[in-house]
Amino acid sequence: MRWLVLVSMLIGFAVVGFVAMSGFVGGRSERLRPVRQQVVSLPEPRLEGPLSVEQAILRRRSRRDYRREPLSLGEVSQLLWAAQGITAPQVWTGLRTAPSAGGLYPLEVYVVVREGGVDGLEAGVYHYHPHKHELSLVAEGDLSRSLMRACVDQEWVGAAAINIVFTGVVERTRVKYGARATQYVFQESGHAAQNIYLQAEALGLGCVVIGAFYEDEVRRVLGVSGEELPVYVIPVGRPA
Ligand SMILES: Cc1cc2nc3c(=O)[nH]c(=O)nc-3n(C[C@H](O)[C@H](O)[C@H](O)COP(=O)(O)O)c2cc1C
Repeated sequence: MRWLVLVSMLIGFAVVGFVAMSGFVGGRSERLRPVRQQVVSLPEPRLEGPLSVEQAILRRRSRRDYRREPLSLGEVSQLLWAAQGITAPQVWTGLRTAPSAGGLYPLEVYVVVREGGVDGLEAGVYHYHPHKHELSLVAEGDLSRSLMRACVDQEWVGAAAINIVFTGVVERTRVKYGARATQYVFQESGHAAQNIYLQAEALGLGCVVIGAFYEDEVRRVLGVSGEELPVYVIPVGRPA
């Protein structure tokens, strides 16, 4: 009889241990979840606003002083849509807000979110997916100070609520345009960045394009390979 009690106790311990280790108990399963599975759906972009395009062009300025206030997810959604959102889904490749040589779309867009930078979004590095208009978490934690160091210590990078980073996959464009590909990638990032400037102005936000950075350090912050060429870092925040 005694050995029966002993065996059933051992089985009980084994079951509890297995359940605990497999992450069934408490919040453990959350922490063990692989980073790539964290996806954030963005609110639908607004297609009308209070500021005319002429006024946005007139008021556009590079702004480097920000209040320490979070952006809303709606504002982040609007900025990303302005940069690379899909505006013609009926075309199979999906035409976007910014033009692209041959419609090959070499740009990839990332958002580095500071701790408390966006309401309802944990600090981290997110990758923007234009077709689904959603973000996926690619690195956890506040990496804005590392990004600031990568941008030769420009303080506004560390102070901004978010930094939008463009990289270019030059090979995507090279398939059709050969030696002109790198030039096209830079030109395209200018279009997308100007859209962010104008959209930020219309939202009452401030931003500045950053061209001074160490490419490899920016890559390290984003966790991307040498295939992606960092082309712009764009801090965004509420103007002081
Ligand atoms: C290609 C490029 C690179 C730039 N790099 C930086 C930079 O690294 N840091 C910065 O604070 N501003 C940078 N700027 C912003 C310029 O300083 C700014 O556009 C210029 O002072 C004119 O001001 P405005 O944009 O308000 O008209 C850059 C602008 C461009 C077009």
